[in-house]
Amino acid sequence: MSTPEFVDVEGPMFVADPFDVEEPQVHAAWLPPEAFRSLGARRVLVHGDGPLVDTVLDEVARACARYGGRMWHSPSWDVDVDLVLTLRRADALPSSTAQAARAAGEAALIDDGRTLGDEGFLLARAGDVTVVLADAPAGLLYGLFHVVRLCAAAFDPARPPELHRPALRRRMLNHWDNVAVHPVMGQVERGYAGGSIFWRDGRPRGDLARLRAYGRLLAASGINAISVNNVNVARAEARLLTDRLGDVAEIADVLRLYGIRVHLSVTFAAPVALGGLSTADPADEAVRAWWAATTRAVYERIPDFGGYVVKADSEGQPGPFTYGRDHADGANLLAEALAPHGGVVHWRAFVYDHHQDWRDRSTDRARAAYDHFTPLDGRFRTNVVLQVKFGPVDFQVREPVSPVLAALPATRVAVEFQVTQEYTGQQRHICHLGPWWSEVLRFAPWGPGGRTIADVATGEKGEGGGLVAVANTGDDPFWTGHPLAQANLYTFGRLAWDPRLDPRAVLDEWMTLTFPPSATADPELVRRTLHEIMDDSWRTYERYTAPLGVGFMVHPGDHYGPDVDGYEYSRWGTYHFADRDGVGVDRSRASGTGFAGQYPPYWADVYESPERCPDELLLFFHHVSYTHVLHSGSTVIQHIYDTHFAGVEEVEAMRRRWQTLNGMIDPAVYVRVAERLDEQVRSAIEWRDQINTYFLRKSGVPDAHGRRIY
Ligand code: GCU
Repeated sequence: MSTPEFVDVEGPMFVADPFDVEEPQVHAAWLPPEAFRSLGARRVLVHGDGPLVDTVLDEVARACARYGGRMWHSPSWDVDVDLVLTLRRADALPSSTAQAARAAGEAALIDDGRTLGDEGFLLARAGDVTVVLADAPAGLLYGLFHVVRLCAAAFDPARPPELHRPALRRRMLNHWDNVAVHPVMGQVERGYAGGSIFWRDGRPRGDLARLRAYGRLLAASGINAISVNNVNVARAEARLLTDRLGDVAEIADVLRLYGIRVHLSVTFAAPVALGGLSTADPADEAVRAWWAATTRAVYERIPDFGGYVVKADSEGQPGPFTYGRDHADGANLLAEALAPHGGVVHWRAFVYDHHQDWRDRSTDRARAAYDHFTPLDGRFRTNVVLQVKFGPVDFQVREPVSPVLAALPATRVAVEFQVTQEYTGQQRHICHLGPWWSEVLRFAPWGPGGRTIADVATGEKGEGGGLVAVANTGDDPFWTGHPLAQANLYTFGRLAWDPRLDPRAVLDEWMTLTFPPSATADPELVRRTLHEIMDDSWRTYERYTAPLGVGFMVHPGDHYGPDVDGYEYSRWGTYHFADRDGVGVDRSRASGTGFAGQYPPYWADVYESPERCPDELLLFFHHVSYTHVLHSGSTVIQHIYDTHFAGVEEVEAMRRRWQTLNGMIDPAVYVRVAERLDEQVRSAIEWRDQINTYFLRKSGVPDAHGRRIY
């Protein structure tokens, strides 16, 4: 028997506590110490080596130290253990129980006939032992967090073996963080959670403990890639690619410990802005050489660098149009530079005319991405991912699914969501977006029963573009401003791991982790109440804001609160066309902009017809009279009144429900949410009254129930 190598939990394995920060204490979110109780009370053997295995060891050691368990690291003496986390191809395990467990795991795997890949893992029971088996260290890390999620259930003797592999290879967050404070957008564009985790006043924040805590949370949700600066790239941010690369490397060094690769948003004009060239033309040899050399230097410093994110020819950002080139030329230029190093370019499809004339009824912003990109299908290099917003306009609370997602079969396509709640209450309102994203992912653009948006993101052989989301986090002590907005981030990660998960079950997971039984007075009551508050909160938000898919009735600029005509005569292409007779945008082929025709035939026909179009999208596709009768049996105008009254009542009920939790959960969380619910009630009333009054005045049709409309 080999010499025992007992890893003392207080010994050198134990790295600095990520929560040991000088800054205000950060909230533990879905990884409070109590979530590790079940794991931490066991005897655990970790077998394997490498930096990610060290992370696993650190997590287990910390849990065991707190809850009285013991941990061994390979090689080990022959001990009885309750949990083995082991690499499949690691050296022979000296412990006979561990050997037996691993053999049982292997057998289950062989039965299943599938491989684990570089992030997957198998969880199986062998006698009294739970085994997590992985082919690569990242799999062990994900397996560990799965055990945490399962709590005691991971040790249930009757648990059948389970194999987990991420459906999507890249599960990515885009931070819209500015290095220097932007005069209008501040430190984080559309950020509702304080400053940036990475940057402050033009410098790296350097708060590595917090960064590590962030990486840990992201890994536990399943996220494995992150871009660290805004897609709108200004002067200071552009330099991250060259002379300020060290700032990015520092972030990468920390996030790597949790299996997260760092990406960078770059400006298409970089060869001019940074390289001193006279052009950024993709056809220019000097430009190509500049990108190649610059990218090589990036990989020398950050060997696992993920790649570039590019917003080009969009809302003032430079792009290939300047040189008479198209977006395939532009994307391929960067892809060519990244290819030798295994990097990808995420090229955003958010390209439209932002200097539109509201008088011009022929131009339709919803059409733009499709019109620009579908002719380019088949021309992108294989390491280009076309990153497409899930809806054709801009992250509204309700939009149809973008037809672009179904229109480029020869291109790798990623679906872009917005976790930051720009148009969904800005983290002052509770708006749990899981059900909305799940609806998008389950949408079958070729017709019911066909391939879904999740299939597009996955790709037929797993080579799809994945899921990307704009982050909702910042330096706020609760990470997300609104503590319940943490659930949106967690849910995004989990859906990116497996888009077929039931969003309600994911929310339940988040609740159990975030409010573990030992930390609450009555865990069942807390969970039930949170479900009552959050499950339908997205639909509630939809009810009291813009009706029937019309969108964009928000205050210009900050996008918070109602302003029905705020964008009606603007250049941004977001109109509702309400007059005394009716409301909505005619996007039919027959009489409108033709946008409905961008869908495959099944949905093109459904959306084309005001009779067949689903109620919730009616005003997105059609201009109808206020007395048009919906499938629900209500008229458009009565629907507007009813939903706005109902929405406010639901928010008032949310607040009452939350008040019943006073004294049962962490007081700081209680107070923060209570404050925000007061604002949500105020804001919902404002929405109700402005929308109802606006449409009463326009239409002259009274509320059938005689309620007060101003
Ligand atoms: C929206 C948002 C901008 C952002 C843009 C984008 O328009 O308001 O702040 O830059 O989306 O996705 O690039």
